[in-house]
Amino acid sequence: MRFLQDFHWSRCSFAVGCGNSSPSKMKLHLRVIASCIVVVFILYQITNFQYLHTKIETKLHPFVSSMESHSASTKIDYLPRGIVQASSDMELKPLWPTKRPTLKDDDEGDDGRGLGPRNLLAMSAGLEQRGSVDLIVRKFLPENFTVILFHYDGNVDAWRDLHWSTSAIHVSALNQTKWWFAKRFLHPDVVSIYDYIFLWDEDLGVENFHPGRYLNVVKSEGLEISQPALDPRRSEIHHKITTRKEGLLVHRKVQDNVRCPDSEAPPCTGWVEGMAPVFSRSAWRCAWHLIQNDLIHGWGMDMKLGYCAQGDRRKKVGVVDSEFVVHWGIRTLGGSSSSAPKRIRGMSRGDVRVESRRRAKSELRIFQDRWDEAAREDPGWVDPFRHTSSRRRRQRRRQSPPDSAAEEEEPTKAAKEI
Ligand SMILES: *[C@@H]1O[C@H](CO)[C@@H](O)[C@H](O)[C@H]1NC(C)=O
Ligand SMILES: *[C@@H]1O[C@H](CO)[C@@H](O)[C@H](O)[C@H]1NC(C)=O
Repeated sequence: MRFLQDFHWSRCSFAVGCGNSSPSKMKLHLRVIASCIVVVFILYQITNFQYLHTKIETKLHPFVSSMESHSASTKIDYLPRGIVQASSDMELKPLWPTKRPTLKDDDEGDDGRGLGPRNLLAMSAGLEQRGSVDLIVRKFLPENFTVILFHYDGNVDAWRDLHWSTSAIHVSALNQTKWWFAKRFLHPDVVSIYDYIFLWDEDLGVENFHPGRYLNVVKSEGLEISQPALDPRRSEIHHKITTRKEGLLVHRKVQDNVRCPDSEAPPCTGWVEGMAPVFSRSAWRCAWHLIQNDLIHGWGMDMKLGYCAQGDRRKKVGVVDSEFVVHWGIRTLGGSSSSAPKRIRGMSRGDVRVESRRRAKSELRIFQDRWDEAAREDPGWVDPFRHTSSRRRRQRRRQSPPDSAAEEEEPTKAAKEI
């Protein structure tokens, strides 16, 4: 401040000194000096106010300013734009260039796009399900899928002898669920080169499933979120909509007199179950944001996935009948809606199942409450499906006595199995 004042003063006195001293000029000079003083005073006041304000702000919110300065955009602004790579991929890269192009090589830069369309298979993998995981991966690799396995039982070495093991990515974290892994390792910016993401459980039989043909169906039908239908003869089925309808290519709704008399809402229309979902890139970007960091069982989320369908969930969410799988329904930790890990030391299988189920049930409730609260408190949010939702609710009220209404609200596997 002192500096600023001196500066202005010297300019002013310079002006005085340079003029010749006729009275009118003198008046002018005085006026200039007066204005200088006023300007300097105002500048001083503003600066002083800002200083005090910042001081108070920092006292009130000690972390805000440091958080802001850590935000990504602030930091990368210092980098020349051309060097910035805001996204990544799951492609393995050779340590040095090889002459023969391999599956993971590409000619057009380093982002894995050179190979044409890329897709990702991400699945939980426990040693006890090694056989079925092996069969699944061997179906997907010839279709140029990138494969990432989530090992939840600490066994990674035991997979080494499989011929495809070195071309898959192995992530290991003890006792974690598929949704936990997906939230941590499949950030949309990291998997943005993949057109479709298959986030599968391991207990699936793929005899009648071909990934390439499945993708063709999904693309031609415009499905952003989908799942293969379940073979009803051999699968554990929790929701009728997942049952394969023979002779069809795809179905998007189910109608039955008990649970889905005429419902436009999930899980009767526009709904897939958690064991074998397939997401388009944009649907995954949304779904990743829907996964809660602390709710590792993913229960209840299936009911809201339709909001990630990038439009009308009645059209963009569907079950593919022409390519179908068997759902063994084996209770593993990796499973999304399945409830109990096998063999956790110190607890019998039954204990673990009960504990795990209890946790999943409470997570279901927490998720629903969180959603309702978020919907209430976001003034800018309008439920795009409010029409179908409210119709559904009215229907339910007519059908069921008031005290059972709450149970009816959650016709996910959770509520059904209890
Ligand atoms: C997989 O990639 C190879 C090598 O780029 C290519 O020749 C082949 O046609 C691709 N296969 C499919 C099913 O896209
Ligand atoms: C996690 O897994 C390890 C090894 O299987 C086991 O010893 C431990 O009890 C598990 N912990 C929980 C909380 O499930």
